[in-house]
Amino acid sequence: MNPASDAKPLKGLFIRTYGCQMNVYDSERIRDVLKPLGYAPVESPEAADLVVVNTCHIREKATEKVYSELGQLKLMKQASGGRMTIAVAGCVAQAEGAEIIRRQPAVDLVLGPQAYHKLPEMIARASRAVGDRLETEFDTVEKFDALPKTRDPDGPTAFVSVQEGCDKFCTFCVVPYTRGAEMSRSVDDIVAEVRDLASKGVREVTLLGQNVNAFHGAAPRLEGGNDWALGQLVRHIAKVGGIERIRYTTSHPRDMDDDLIAAHGDTPAMMPFLHLPVQSGSDRILKSMNRGHTADHYRDIIARVRKARPDIALATDFIVGFPGESDADFEATMQLARDVGYAIAYSFKYSSRPGTPAAEMHGHVSEAVKDERLQALQALLREQQTGFNAQQIGKTLPVLVTGKGRNPGQLHGRSPYLQAVHFEGPDALIGSLVDVCVTGASLNSLTAELVRAREPAQ
Ligand code: 5AD
Ligand code: SF4
Repeated sequence: MNPASDAKPLKGLFIRTYGCQMNVYDSERIRDVLKPLGYAPVESPEAADLVVVNTCHIREKATEKVYSELGQLKLMKQASGGRMTIAVAGCVAQAEGAEIIRRQPAVDLVLGPQAYHKLPEMIARASRAVGDRLETEFDTVEKFDALPKTRDPDGPTAFVSVQEGCDKFCTFCVVPYTRGAEMSRSVDDIVAEVRDLASKGVREVTLLGQNVNAFHGAAPRLEGGNDWALGQLVRHIAKVGGIERIRYTTSHPRDMDDDLIAAHGDTPAMMPFLHLPVQSGSDRILKSMNRGHTADHYRDIIARVRKARPDIALATDFIVGFPGESDADFEATMQLARDVGYAIAYSFKYSSRPGTPAAEMHGHVSEAVKDERLQALQALLREQQTGFNAQQIGKTLPVLVTGKGRNPGQLHGRSPYLQAVHFEGPDALIGSLVDVCVTGASLNSLTAELVRAREPAQ
């Protein structure tokens, strides 16, 4: 701990994160922004001076969870004699703004995803009870420039935001409204962040963006020229000393260009995992979703990616029960899942979001039919996931050791295919790459035996 922060009384910070990896990253950056003010993480909201609820607006259920959590926080705030400050961040904050304070007056601050760097100033204003409690401007450039340049990684893996926002306007989705237009960071900024992380023991970076493969960041100053696409960025990051693994999420089929596909085959640091949401296997529904691709276009991309990297693990997102989805449309989704064969997939019932075009469409599907379809699809996906995991039994895989496992003497890590792996080994291996031999597989993880350390542990 640095001596400067010893001088100030520490204030407790509790951040609750809902939703996607972008929010996980944003929560880390909120922690970084607040550190110089003397805020340090605590284990429970009761112990906190400041509670930040980082919210997700993508489905109705996620939004309602936020209000029920705020109700509980209000009681804790009363019990603390009003000492606790409650801030609501993220996409619900962006979408609902002042409505949040109206529905839950115990909330002190509301800030959208582009306003985290303004949090210290907002807290100061709130403590003096002057000025605005609401900050929901869209200024992604300013946010990236204003966030602290160095980070405190939690272990050998880290997220790095390279792109934000979405211009795709899928008709079911709130993201283009809550996260704003597509914007990319410059390659120099990203590489500086990756170097800093690598110097602190990070071996694996996951490049993040709502449409990460739409990345078009300014090329490095020395190289000049046009913006770089994601494939070029990945190859460049692969040269940073200490970085052994690169992943990226989440992608759009329309932005899956040849160079990025080639990088899956020719860049050893590029991990064999691709999350490429398809949403539906029916061309009629894909069109109504405004996805800009057909089911066969998607199959073709998958075939090209598999050609570049035959062992790649494929992941996707599906929505069932989109307005107008017939039994035949749903069967086309099942068929696409059978054709591709996923290592892991996320599937959701369509949730109508006010303000999106799909909410106004005819032919909304009943909850009962949505439930039935979701169950059928998830049964198939579970079978595929279990089968994919079982294929690894008997293989020797490189695993990045991320921490201690549940039982004493056990370690936890990630395979190249992003599977959780549990095995016995000494704590000194945490943070390094090891080879393990896979001995067992279940739906959600692999068990393995340590074969050898690949390098001296750090
Ligand atoms: N209803 C259900 N699922 C949705 N998603 C996005 N919007 C909705 C919605 N209105 C899903 C998509 C997306 C994932 C992050 O969430 O599958 O890829
Ligand atoms: Fe939403 Fe579609 Fe953009 Fe993904 S691509 S964030 S689903 S609008």
